[in-house]
Amino acid sequence: MRQPLLRLSQITKSFGAVRALKGVSFELHPGEVHALLGENGAGKSTLIKVITGAHQPDGGTLEIGGTTVSNLTPTRARKLGIACIYQQPALFPDLSVSENIGLRLEGGAFFAKVHWKQRRKNADALLARIGAALDPETPVRSLSMPEQQLVEIACALGSGAKTVIMDEPTASLTQVEQELLFGVVRDLRASGAGVVYISHRLEEIFALADRVTVLRDGQSISTRAVRSELGAMELTEEELISLMVGREVASIYPHRGGSPGETVLELENVCCAAGGIANISLAVRAGEILGLAGLVGAGRTELARVLFGITPADSGTIRLLGRNVQVRSPQQAVSLGIGYVPEDRRRHGVILPMPIAENMSMAVHPKLFPGKWLRFEAERALGLRFIEELGIKAYGPEAPGGSLSGGNQQKVSLARWLATEPRLLILDDPTQGVDVGAKSEIHRIIRDLAAKGLAVLMISSDLPEVLGMSDRIAVMRGGRLVETFEGSTATAQRVMSAALRPS
Ligand SMILES: Nc1ncnc2c1ncn2[C@@H]1O[C@H](COP(=O)(O)OP(=O)(O)OP(=O)(O)O)[C@@H](O)[C@H]1O
Ligand SMILES: [Mg+2]
Repeated sequence: MRQPLLRLSQITKSFGAVRALKGVSFELHPGEVHALLGENGAGKSTLIKVITGAHQPDGGTLEIGGTTVSNLTPTRARKLGIACIYQQPALFPDLSVSENIGLRLEGGAFFAKVHWKQRRKNADALLARIGAALDPETPVRSLSMPEQQLVEIACALGSGAKTVIMDEPTASLTQVEQELLFGVVRDLRASGAGVVYISHRLEEIFALADRVTVLRDGQSISTRAVRSELGAMELTEEELISLMVGREVASIYPHRGGSPGETVLELENVCCAAGGIANISLAVRAGEILGLAGLVGAGRTELARVLFGITPADSGTIRLLGRNVQVRSPQQAVSLGIGYVPEDRRRHGVILPMPIAENMSMAVHPKLFPGKWLRFEAERALGLRFIEELGIKAYGPEAPGGSLSGGNQQKVSLARWLATEPRLLILDDPTQGVDVGAKSEIHRIIRDLAAKGLAVLMISSDLPEVLGMSDRIAVMRGGRLVETFEGSTATAQRVMSAALRPS
């Protein structure tokens, strides 16, 4: 057998008292896609950071291409042929796409002469190779998150790396970009590179991976072949889930609600030029979950931002519980009983240095602390309650947001808005990056909230989630609402074709 690209044995790593990795062994072969699976906080990102030289392990050995390496730095890892696509793109916003790609790939000797034409040609070729329709001259700041992610992918591809690591690369992508990404992964495999692929979406693991290693509580539990040499499936979804959580998990969606109550939110011809949305008319009733589907750039997040007063509407009518309202600021939205869990938790969600209990109580300060007296006990109780209810993995309510894994940060951001007990809850990709166990917990919580009379507007790029959770599904395209389906009759096919149909 050929030399493995990576061989890790008994890797350990602690952060203070937290033992993130307690002994992980892992191998990556040339020409394989090796998935890494585990619950939120299992240690996946930490393991990746050991491989890319971002963290020094406390113990164990790391071999790259058959050679044991110690004191690995990110620069050295890159030189050894390791490229990583993190969940958050790390590009220079003021530079163009081709400048970003050029800087990353040309190795950045400070005074090196820049060959603009060549740079542009390279960028063109790489973008074409992944099938991304982006103009290399566009400044990165005007690209959406998924588009930036495509640029990151182009960089990884262009670096000629033999080991490409992807940490939840599809979390912010919708179906179309996902297909592009899958094409890139298969290309890399065919060219003999190895890919380490982290995702909470089991269907992706079954579609892409050759092998999967399951981490639980900082330990590698098992490495299994996903399919045999002949292509037969070797592993079932149930087996994989129980390896991961060590118990049974209901992966089915909760039952839909009964008959909905009064109309909570009603929009008539709502327009917002700054957000690129026009003539949106819809209604959400108490007890109802309205799923908002569409491709990246269809205007779903923009609509949420209009409703939450971040980019207020220019015209049209917004009615809450039968009353015409103007939503001019987030504060106003909160006082009207609107809660909003945004998609990009790093930018709008959790404040990393702040304890999680404070992160959760931020939107309910006036309720929790009547008068001026700070009631730490109340805040702590709130923290403890949501740590318990959402199964947040943290050492306590005083743990800073930044010490939590990505999925657990997402739960903190959800808790903040659940604490406000809103009438209308807007969720933007609520289970993005959340593991399967916690995902079904969150689904149950959303359904329970609806059952208590909350109106829920749920944006999701996870098609099975939209189909499984929504009482009705509204599809947006090009900033407009193009079709609405009853949840019980909608199919993936119908929703996708409404989202894709050229206008
Ligand atoms: N910088 C840090 N400081 C303190 N604790 C940390 C730090 N980074 C990670 N941890 C802890 O290490 C453990 C593993 O976290 P890690 O980010 O590797 O999880 P993960 O498997 O990537 O989870 P997710 O699926 O949620 O992204 C968690 O308990 C987390 O709280
Ligand atoms: Mg992670």
